[in-house]
Amino acid sequence: GWMNELNGLNVLEMQLKEKLQLKDVVIVSGNSDEDAWVKKEMGKAAFHFLQKIVKPDDILAVTGGTTMFAVAEAMKPFPFDGNILFVPARGGIGEQVENQANTIVATMAKRTNGAYRMLFVPDLLSEASYKSIIQEPAIDEILGQIKSASIVLHGVGDAIRMAHRRNAASDVIDQLHEKEAVGEAFGYYFDSKGNIVHKIRTVGLQLKDLNEKKYVVTVAGGKSKARAIASYYKLGKSDVLITDEAAAKVILRDN
Ligand code: F6P
Repeated sequence: GWMNELNGLNVLEMQLKEKLQLKDVVIVSGNSDEDAWVKKEMGKAAFHFLQKIVKPDDILAVTGGTTMFAVAEAMKPFPFDGNILFVPARGGIGEQVENQANTIVATMAKRTNGAYRMLFVPDLLSEASYKSIIQEPAIDEILGQIKSASIVLHGVGDAIRMAHRRNAASDVIDQLHEKEAVGEAFGYYFDSKGNIVHKIRTVGLQLKDLNEKKYVVTVAGGKSKARAIASYYKLGKSDVLITDEAAAKVILRDN
C-alpha cells in the first residue's frame, strides 16, 4: 500500500543522505527517464523545498536544462512579500533557448512575482573576449549579483549526452571519452572520481564560488543520471539533492 511505499522512500532518503553527507535528500517515486510526470514531481518537490529556505530579498542563481524548467513550471508566489531576484548561474553554455538559464529565470520570476536579470554572453568565449566582456559595466553588475546569490539551484547531466546536446566539437567529445567523463554541472565535465576533465569557459559561477555561504540545491534524476550525480558529489558542493527513486537506487547500489 501507499504507506509502505512512503516508508520505503523515507528509508532511501536516509540512506542517501548518509552516503552523500547531505543536509537533506528528497526522493520522488519513479524514473524520470521513462515517465515525464516524474520530472514534474521532482520540480514540485524542489519548489516545496525552496519554500522552506527562501527568505525575502534572496538572490537565486539557476542553471539551465529540462529539470530546471520543470522546477520553474512548478513555481507559485512565495508566501511573503519581499523581492526574490532570479539570475542565471552562468553565461551561455550551449543550450537551446527553452533550456537556457536566461529563459528559466524569466519563467521563475513571472510565476513567483519576483524579478530577474538575464546574462547575455556568447558561448565559447576566447580568453581575450572573456577578459574584455567581464569589464563591461552591465555584465559586471549582474556578475556581482550572481556571485552574491544565497541559493543556487542546479541540474546535473550525463557528460556525453550533454556534450552532444550542446553540439560540442568532435575533438571535445573524443577527449571526454578518452578521459572517461561521466557527469556535467555548471559547464564542468568530470570523471567518476570527481576530477574535472573539461570546462566550458564562460562568465558566472565557477565551482569554487560554491562556498558555505551558498545553499546549493541539486535537482537531478533518472536511472541514466545515477553515475553523473554520484560523480558530482565527489567534487561539487551541494546541501540537498532532489532526485527520483530510480537514480537513488543505483547511486546506493553502485557507488
Ligand atoms: O546546461 C545546463 C544544465 O544545467 C547542465 O549543467 C546539466 O548537465 C543539464 O543542464 C541538465 O539538463 P536536464 O535537466 O535537461 O537533464
